Amino acid sequence: MNTSKQKEKEGKTIKSMVDLVGLKLNRIYLSDYLEGLKKIKTKSIDLAFTDPPYNTNKDFGVYKDNLSEEEYSGRVTRLINELRRVTKRGFGIYIDWRHFKMYWDLMPEADPIIIIKRVPNAASSRLKIAQHYHIILTTATALRTVKSLWNDIHFAGELRLFNEERYEHPAQTSFKATKRFIENFSNEKEIILDPFMGTGTTAVVSAELNRKFIGFELNPDYIRIAEKRLAQVDINNRH
Ligand SMILES: C[S@@+](CC[C@H](N)C(=O)[O-])C[C@H]1O[C@@H](n2cnc3c(N)ncnc32)[C@H](O)[C@@H]1O
Repeated sequence: MNTSKQKEKEGKTIKSMVDLVGLKLNRIYLSDYLEGLKKIKTKSIDLAFTDPPYNTNKDFGVYKDNLSEEEYSGRVTRLINELRRVTKRGFGIYIDWRHFKMYWDLMPEADPIIIIKRVPNAASSRLKIAQHYHIILTTATALRTVKSLWNDIHFAGELRLFNEERYEHPAQTSFKATKRFIENFSNEKEIILDPFMGTGTTAVVSAELNRKFIGFELNPDYIRIAEKRLAQVDINNRH
């Protein structure tokens, strides 16, 4: 196919995808997630993956993560209902052990993938235990065989065990965990949604894996970081 015909075809494909989803793809919108999700059409997203704020007073700049318990649980309930509405294959929520029960009660259809976090100075921790865990609660079914315990993944708190690049963000999500989820629960060219994009880990993973992405974030500084990260993918190996 000559280049102009190919461009015309790509243009039509992109337009039909906008019609399908309701918003342009491969964009992180500066928006509250509930406002953004309202604009996404029903069953237009293949898979969603997100690491939400846990309401633990984290300083996300414009957002202080300190809602009342009631308000937080109301917003999480609306998040889960919206993710059920917009996704075809389902969604994964990356959650810490303290909020595991609350989220599982709200999405009893989900399966847990457990990721152990080794706490280096357990003696000073309130619980005096050496391991915590994170969980991906997933309503989607894996397309390839995956273990349900991902013990080779490390977190920033695990000091020298953590070898991922860090950005200016207080709760960046593990790239490795995000990649393993998206790689095994979706196919190339599919659309991945993350309503809490932060520094864009989900977007970068999606771009690297030849998926399309869409998402929301309240803090423009984080979106700027995400755009820089995405530009690197473009340079290196974007399909
Ligand atoms: C745990 S972080 C996500 C981290 C991200 N996966 C990454 O790797 O950088 C949660 C993000 O949600 C954002 N956020 C908080 N409230 C929001 C809201 N109402 N709408 C959209 N984003 C929000 C915060 O600014 C924060 O960046």
